[in-house]
Amino acid sequence: MNYRVVSAFAAAAVFLVLAGTASAEGTFEGRKKCYNCHKSQGESWDKTLHAKAMESLKPNTRKEAKLKAKLDPKKDYTKDKDCVGCHVTGWGQEGGYLVEEPEKFLIGVGCESCHGAGSAYRKIHRKAGEAFEKSQKTTPREKLVEADQDFEFVEKCNACHLNYEGSPWKGAKKPYTPFTPAVDKKYAFDFEKAVRNNKALHEHFKLAGTFTGDPMPKFHEEFQKDAKPPVKADSGGED
Ligand code: HEC
Ligand code: HEC
Ligand code: HEC
Ligand code: HEC
Repeated sequence: MNYRVVSAFAAAAVFLVLAGTASAEGTFEGRKKCYNCHKSQGESWDKTLHAKAMESLKPNTRKEAKLKAKLDPKKDYTKDKDCVGCHVTGWGQEGGYLVEEPEKFLIGVGCESCHGAGSAYRKIHRKAGEAFEKSQKTTPREKLVEADQDFEFVEKCNACHLNYEGSPWKGAKKPYTPFTPAVDKKYAFDFEKAVRNNKALHEHFKLAGTFTGDPMPKFHEEFQKDAKPPVKADSGGED
């Protein structure tokens, strides 16, 4: 083989290795890409408590709640590492929010906080969407799981909502949430109820059926039954 052929092979091999790594492990990127293709969920999420979670860390907000939890309502907690982690996206993980370098698309409890770090699975969404549009070809959800998309949800919610001392959740470790059922019963976390709370979660929009099979959350069909039609610009966006 001459030199140019060998180096072309080497380049292809490097490309394959890199591409392989990229699809195996998702990193956090922020919600901008998701918005390009999921405008309906994005606009609905904008109105939720999760979207505004950082606001609650600012001085002179939620005064009563803070006093009750023995926090200082005048204090600015927006850079406090004992607080920020649960009020942003991807804290402590690759590509996630950093106090030193705040990225605006990672502020608040964003898409990737529940659906998983998106750099790998969003590429499958694009390809699968194109294939479905062209020839109605469907893609198994298992491919998305391999690319780190999450369909369980409950562990993700627990990591923020049940992270306090004496919690029934086994994974609890510092820093803890100050808002526990001991402070007020209303902070007790009931997943089945919470996942249907439309002040905190986005509304649901009808899927065309690009992805099929398990894993499918048991509330998937319930949510799809009452889902609204998505706004037109939803598919075919740039990734
Ligand atoms: C990264 C941490 C994080 C994750 C993950 C998370 N939440 Fe939250 N959640 C919060 C924070 C912080 C608030 C408070 C927002 C505010 O009011 O400032 C909140 C608020 C809520 C509320 C509103 C409570 C009220 O006051 O009425 C509900 C309901 C809720 N979350 C449900 C869920 C569910 C269900 C999941 C999983 C599918 C989930 N959350 C995942 C951090 C998180
Ligand atoms: C382990 C995750 C976690 C940490 C750490 C955390 N929070 Fe939160 N925070 C939450 C969750 C979950 C909620 C939503 C509780 C609910 O409404 O059920 C919340 C809600 C709040 C609220 C709104 C409460 C209300 O009733 O209006 C404020 C204010 C707040 N947090 C401030 C803070 C401050 C200040 C700190 C640091 C001292 C902090 N949080 C640390 C998870 C956390
Ligand atoms: C607090 C958790 C949470 C956050 C944050 C969140 N989602 Fe979801 N999302 C869900 C749950 C739960 C479902 C229902 C899953 C099912 O029915 O299979 C869902 C469903 C979806 C669906 C399927 C169609 C539908 O509307 O039900 C899309 C698309 C979606 N989310 C995109 C997004 C995007 C984009 C963002 C950010 C702007 C986002 N999600 C933020 C929890 C969340
Ligand atoms: C290039 C466009 C594109 C991007 C970027 C994109 N998606 Fe998707 N996504 C799609 C398409 C197309 C579908 C299939 C929709 C259907 O069947 O109607 C889909 C489906 C989904 C579903 C439903 C999966 C199921 O259970 O059927 C969720 C949840 C979702 N996307 C979340 C996200 C999140 C979160 C991001 C950002 C990290 C994201 N998407 C980025 C195009 C995209």
